[in-house]
Amino acid sequence: MEFMELANERRSVRVYADKPVPRALIDEAIRAAQLAPSWKNSQTGRYYVAQSPESQAKIRACLPSYNQKSSANAVLIVTAYEKGVSGFNGGEPTNELGNQWGAYDLGLQNMLLTLRARELGLDTLIMGIRDADAIRAAAAIPETEAVFAVIALGYRAQDPAPRPRKATEEIVTYLE
Ligand SMILES: Cc1cc2nc3c(=O)[nH]c(=O)nc-3n(C[C@H](O)[C@H](O)[C@H](O)COP(=O)(O)O)c2cc1C
Repeated sequence: MEFMELANERRSVRVYADKPVPRALIDEAIRAAQLAPSWKNSQTGRYYVAQSPESQAKIRACLPSYNQKSSANAVLIVTAYEKGVSGFNGGEPTNELGNQWGAYDLGLQNMLLTLRARELGLDTLIMGIRDADAIRAAAAIPETEAVFAVIALGYRAQDPAPRPRKATEEIVTYLE
């Protein structure tokens, strides 16, 4: 699939079919995420995959009811990053953004994950509204990692219309 076709086709999908996602496809999507650039190639993104019904139920319980509903039937991928590495040099933040660079790197990875998922015939929903402490406990995520989005991954059972985007002129400033 052409890149722009893929980018145009991706949607946040909030209704999934009751159809299991094979582990091979989950691995494929995560392998694509690993191709993302990262601060000094530090690759601090981490993925905790809830594929089994039992683990899905544990992670789903850490979401607000509307995200539980939107992600029903989907695999849940908790995304996290190792803190104090990306954006750091010898344990000290390189600049004012500190750990935000870890979040930046994880976002780049997750974008590739969602696009590759679409290319594989799957869809995704990035969920930032979740109980991070509950997820940390449920998935045994160490305190050295920051818990970020939970990504639902599954087969779409709806065709959402594209959400509008701002006019390019609104977000771009060409400098004199
Ligand atoms: C960081 C982040 C957090 C988000 N959190 C949620 C969420 O908790 N629940 C939800 O339904 N959608 C969530 N979304 C999806 C956005 O609402 C969606 O990407 C946006 O409306 C644009 O629609 P599109 O993804 O279909 O292009 C999140 C998206 C991002 C990037």
